[in-house]
Amino acid sequence: MIIKKDMNEEEINEFIDYALKEMTIKEKIKQMSGHDFFKLLLRDRKFGVRAYPAAGLKRLGIPPILFTDGPRGVIIPGSTCFPVSMARGASWDLELEEKIGDVIGREVRAHGGNLFGGVCINLLRHPAWGRAQETYGEDPFLIGKFGAALVKGVQKHNVMATVKHYALNSIENARFKVNVKIDERTLREVYLPHFKRCIEEDCATVMSAYNKVRGEYCGHNKYLLRDILKEEWGFKGFVHSDWMRGLKDTIGGITGGLDVEMPWSKFYGKKLKKAVENKVIPMELIDDAVIRVIRTILKFTTKIDLEFYGEDLIGCKDHVSIARIAAEKSMVLLKNEKNLLPLNVNGLKSIAIIGPLADVKNTGDHGSSNVRQSNIVTPLQGFRNLIEEKVKLSYLDGTDLELTKNLASSVDVVILIVGYTYKDEGEWIPEFKIGGDRDSLNLHKEDIELIKAISKVNPNTIVTLIGGSAIMMENWKNEVPAILMAWYSGMEGGHALANIILGKVNPSGKLPFTIPKNTSDLPFFDKNADEIEYGYYHGYTKFDKEGLEPAFPFGFGLSYTQFKYENLQIEIVSEKIIATVDISNIGKIMGEEVVQLYIGFENSKIQKPIKLLKGFTKAQLQPGEKKTVKIEVNKNDLAWYNPDKMQWDLEDIEYNLHVGGSSRAQDLLTSKFTIS
Ligand code: GLC
Repeated sequence: MIIKKDMNEEEINEFIDYALKEMTIKEKIKQMSGHDFFKLLLRDRKFGVRAYPAAGLKRLGIPPILFTDGPRGVIIPGSTCFPVSMARGASWDLELEEKIGDVIGREVRAHGGNLFGGVCINLLRHPAWGRAQETYGEDPFLIGKFGAALVKGVQKHNVMATVKHYALNSIENARFKVNVKIDERTLREVYLPHFKRCIEEDCATVMSAYNKVRGEYCGHNKYLLRDILKEEWGFKGFVHSDWMRGLKDTIGGITGGLDVEMPWSKFYGKKLKKAVENKVIPMELIDDAVIRVIRTILKFTTKIDLEFYGEDLIGCKDHVSIARIAAEKSMVLLKNEKNLLPLNVNGLKSIAIIGPLADVKNTGDHGSSNVRQSNIVTPLQGFRNLIEEKVKLSYLDGTDLELTKNLASSVDVVILIVGYTYKDEGEWIPEFKIGGDRDSLNLHKEDIELIKAISKVNPNTIVTLIGGSAIMMENWKNEVPAILMAWYSGMEGGHALANIILGKVNPSGKLPFTIPKNTSDLPFFDKNADEIEYGYYHGYTKFDKEGLEPAFPFGFGLSYTQFKYENLQIEIVSEKIIATVDISNIGKIMGEEVVQLYIGFENSKIQKPIKLLKGFTKAQLQPGEKKTVKIEVNKNDLAWYNPDKMQWDLEDIEYNLHVGGSSRAQDLLTSKFTIS
């Protein structure tokens, strides 16, 4: 029996039946792990320069899995390097995220891969998490929508997407050992909904996390892998382990529901074969994993391709321009006193770009998400490329403070570029002592000194922050008129930053997390924890519940124009709550507004957050334009998980519905509704 193009489900199942009869036990077990990793690593002499193989069987024409990473683009050299996922989360632009997935899918294929391991959706429980940059924020609804958009875009090109790291992987340094304790409602309502949303988007595969949940490693966790993912959610793809340390025990893994060990066969392979031969493991468990692997490979690799995926696609001009648009739409204007921004170059003679990160190629972590791309536009280069001759542009890295103060006092405007690099946060690579969770949420001491010194000698000082998570700024934010969160903004970040600051683009980004005033307002965090309890509240739900005042709230971001909301209407149509609201651009320039919808549970009879994000959309408005915007909410999205009945229940109460430009009460219009 041969494998042909465009096999339908029935033909794939027929082939699988044939293959199961044909395959030896050794060939079946080969489908359950990576292979040739070290041979290829020795040949390449460095990691990440190719897609890595797993499974497959030449004798029967079954193609191998060919895995490559990473959330900000394909990590293989030359690929388009996008802003990090957290930056894209701040764009609140799902169409754009799907477009980015579309580009990544093309580039995975052009590199010869067929499995993309970059849909990282672990929830940002605490801003110190080292890999915050790889996810989309603190709210499960926002993360789920973004993860699903990336899955959809990538899988358009017959590339298997992976959603990771399943589940509760929200501490970096302790990830190989930490045991996470959690009650059932918190697990179901806070830490799993975004994974479920990606499975509903038909995500092909799931990567299990390193950590433990309720005492069992995620790679062996029967409750997570078999009971919830495969049985309850009906997941038909396969689960592969995180690399090297993602599987710790042969029997634990196969009984727990892990289908593929990556990138090698340390606990599967011969050990698994022996367990079957000694009748410790029934062949049915092996067959279930093999069926999942072959079914998923054939489902994707036998489809007719949308196009030819030539190497010219890799990092091509069209893809790079999408990276610039993503960077422009992700930057968040946090403060803009005296309307200092946008700068009007016609009225300026001199600008100084100052700071340790002003001319550094700084796209984020150097772990598994590191895209090997050399054409990175730094902030300085971005301004140099865009500022006409008439404005004198100077640059200093700020190490010589006296020299820097002299320069700053002699120019019209100073743009400071400060923040973090891969040395401060990112995947924890103990061997090289890079990455990991942050010990402090503040800027480096030298950055704070620079901000204080420069803002004293030049009142027109703009602070641009580079990083992948919340940065606390209480000890300097009142000393400058303008603050912009620019993120790790990818290969086109310099151009995007200059376009925003010079007013060619109106910023529309909104925070995908809460920025606190005090670390004591955040949940407990220990980067070396052996065990930790994840609670029901964190981020804006914790701040709302405890009446805490953030420095900058979830969903907040300024524009160069202003928007007015009026006439909020609610209609219940069968299983949907439909909200409409009129939005006007009452400023002088075109702008994009992120319209957010929160459901208020103030009347709930059970423990519930004050409000939860349950819808959002973007509206582009010309000056003076008014639009009626509609957002639909599924009634089921209001449900709570009843652990006693092990089912989702809907309360028959009066709900509030809030719509506005941030989660702040003063930015929200409110109305009420009931669902009965
Ligand atoms: C890493 C990461 C995971 C990545 C994998 C392969 O340890 O945890 O996100 O996909 O290994 O690089």
